[in-house]
Amino acid sequence: MLDFAAMRATLAGAYDLAPSMQLAEEMREIHARMDRVVPLADFARHAPYIRAINRLKAEKNAVILAHNYMTPEIYHGVADVVGDSLQLAIEATKVEAGTIVQCGVHFMAETSKILNPAKRVLIPDMAAGCSLAESITAEGIATMRAQYPGAPVVSYVNTTAEVKAASDICCTSSNAAQIVAALPEETIIMTPDQYLAQNVARQVPHKKVVWWAGSCIVHEQYTTEDITEFRKWNPDTRVIAHPECPPSVVAASDFSGSTSGIIDYVAREKPQKAMLVTECSMASNISDALPEVDFVGPCNMCPYMKKITLEKILWSLHTDGPEVFVAPEIAAKARIAVERMIELSRAVAK
Ligand code: 13P
Ligand code: SF4
Repeated sequence: MLDFAAMRATLAGAYDLAPSMQLAEEMREIHARMDRVVPLADFARHAPYIRAINRLKAEKNAVILAHNYMTPEIYHGVADVVGDSLQLAIEATKVEAGTIVQCGVHFMAETSKILNPAKRVLIPDMAAGCSLAESITAEGIATMRAQYPGAPVVSYVNTTAEVKAASDICCTSSNAAQIVAALPEETIIMTPDQYLAQNVARQVPHKKVVWWAGSCIVHEQYTTEDITEFRKWNPDTRVIAHPECPPSVVAASDFSGSTSGIIDYVAREKPQKAMLVTECSMASNISDALPEVDFVGPCNMCPYMKKITLEKILWSLHTDGPEVFVAPEIAAKARIAVERMIELSRAVAK
């Protein structure tokens, strides 16, 4: 458990972290990437942290890999690479710096460690979990295998290293349908996201997809009523849903894709109004780059992703911790499942 008082006292002694309008003005170039969603007065609180983190990153030869759900001050202020789960996994294999600071949730940090074991991988808050990763264990995989003998197990990357190690191949929201379609077996076990599995089953009707009953606490909250009600008084809104949403929600939407798939779609189509049926920070992060788009409608926050803050990133770099470890025998097996996914993704993209 983080001792916030001790952390703040140490940081205040080591860095100049007082809010500063002058510094905010000096860092206008960074602020310009988020000024539609972060007022300058607010940026004045973030600026000292952004400066300290960026200096420390250079001093300590560290890179920050940040998920698309990070808040704008992280996404635009300190991240070296941003992306969806697949992009971050691929980027992790390419990191040359000695330290990766994973700004996302724990399974993402584990994936980086699995793919690039020689690097020190830090996560600013060890409690940044995921309801999907928590929903299944390696025993759960064994139960599914016993129920469907011979069927391969495709596990979402939103799982622990132990679960990946017990699986045949991984998938992310950007390649799940292609991976299921490319496997030779007719029956495919998908874990742990029942909704992703059901959405894939609709895209790949010639396969029998069976699933584990996990769900994402952020996306399961959306309902078709949210969308139909919203469309009634906002008929020209483009509705874009993440495939962790229930299939009825995805069916009621105009497009569904991974977080980066959603960003690419909005950037390409530039609808006048867009409702992103996913985590809140997505719209905030792309708002300045797409001033012609009005982001409307409800959004839900991921309490795990939101555990990562500028303050904890600075603490992580200051203390070189907390570090993520994966037992080498588990990592070796999990690496096979993740690398198979990356290879298959590349092959189908050609
Ligand atoms: P993406 O791979 O689409 O970024 O999704 C990760 C995630 O956790 C979404 O909830
Ligand atoms: Fe997990 Fe859902 Fe949060 Fe993504 S949004 S990290 S799937 S709980």
